[in-house]
Amino acid sequence: MTAANAAKTSPMPTLDVERLRADFPILANVHPHGKPLAYLDNGASSQMPQQVIDRLVHYQTHEHANIHRGVHTLSETATKAYENARRQVQRFLNAREDREIVFTSNVTDSINLVAHGFGRAFIGEGDEIIITHLEHHANIVPWQMLCEDRGAKLKVVPIDDTGTLILDQYQRLFSARTKFVSVTHVSNALGTINPVEEMIAIAHRHGVPIMIDGAQAVQHMPVDVQALDCDFYAFTGHKLFGPTGIGVLYGKADWLNKMKPFRGGGDMILSVSFEKTTYNAIPFKFEAGTPPISQAIALGAAIEYVQGVGLGRIAAHEHELLVYATERLRSLDGVRIYGTAKEKAAVISFYVGKIHPHDVGTLLNEEGVAIRTGHHCAQPVMQRFGIPATARASFAFYNTMEEVDALVAAVAKVQKLFG
Ligand SMILES: Cc1ncc(COP(=O)(O)O)c(C=O)c1O
Repeated sequence: MTAANAAKTSPMPTLDVERLRADFPILANVHPHGKPLAYLDNGASSQMPQQVIDRLVHYQTHEHANIHRGVHTLSETATKAYENARRQVQRFLNAREDREIVFTSNVTDSINLVAHGFGRAFIGEGDEIIITHLEHHANIVPWQMLCEDRGAKLKVVPIDDTGTLILDQYQRLFSARTKFVSVTHVSNALGTINPVEEMIAIAHRHGVPIMIDGAQAVQHMPVDVQALDCDFYAFTGHKLFGPTGIGVLYGKADWLNKMKPFRGGGDMILSVSFEKTTYNAIPFKFEAGTPPISQAIALGAAIEYVQGVGLGRIAAHEHELLVYATERLRSLDGVRIYGTAKEKAAVISFYVGKIHPHDVGTLLNEEGVAIRTGHHCAQPVMQRFGIPATARASFAFYNTMEEVDALVAAVAKVQKLFG
């Protein structure tokens, strides 16, 4: 099926992709090797629309000052904008209260915050933490570090050959010593969408709190933390059309109040003396030092932008891209797709014959097609499939069927080159 046919059979051509693409200057400005850019590396970092760039420039031009401590107008303006961004994130995730939103520097930082803050308060010798085989290193290593410190044990939910979690095994991993579960919402390496509603309910039936790593989810589908009833949810700004240097941790107020602070310093205290320090209320207890002010404000603008486009329509368009790209790549001899779960986000990990993914990525770049190659910070996933790496195309709502065609044509060219 060609792009034109796919468009004809599409039941819901609801996104005006060409108009939306005009919001992203970088998509038009970069022409590597003289070819139009097909940016298919959104799983690593997505691009920023002009509206977000403008918000950053406006902040730096008219509003910048340090926040919370100043009595002058600029400081008050910056504080208002920063706290308004917190409320935008609260509404985006449908959190009950804005104090349940902590700004961090990225999702890695959010997970480390919970591993330290929750771990030092509640995990002891012989306790168990459950993660899954699908995790990014960011949701493995902090828990391993905690286990090493506390003498706790990590248990891992296995996956089947399609990259789907084996839920029966998840249930069986719980014991009287299970103290925490942390699981990715969407696998960055395979695209698998995990049944987090069910996993949250199962954890709660065992009286265990659960954290969801939403780094690959919030840009693709609506997320409602109250409906999910997760205890923690984390994501990162640069994959949500916002800037780098900003992450979010949602935590139920009860847990955040009970947790130990992660970093010490200014802003996270109410009073300090050499005898005793009293910590600030949440969320400030977890925001030591000058936070990423401009980044938080720009993230607010990115959220506003995404909400304007509509996450339902984004999901529908990306699903069409996924179906079309999967079908076309599969039609090429020797292309193997890793990650064929029924529930999948628009991520395709693949291998071309015996050609190393780095060679594939390098040659695709010469055709103007930007993909990621490597282990995607998910080495256990690669080990599960007995491969060192994959080539990965990851889509955003601004990608087109023509870009899928460019990907497929470039892969076919690589195959020809290697004979
Ligand atoms: C599922 C998942 N978790 C965590 C991360 C880490 O994100 P960051 O580097 O922004 O902390 C990524 C990044 O690719 C990811 O895909």
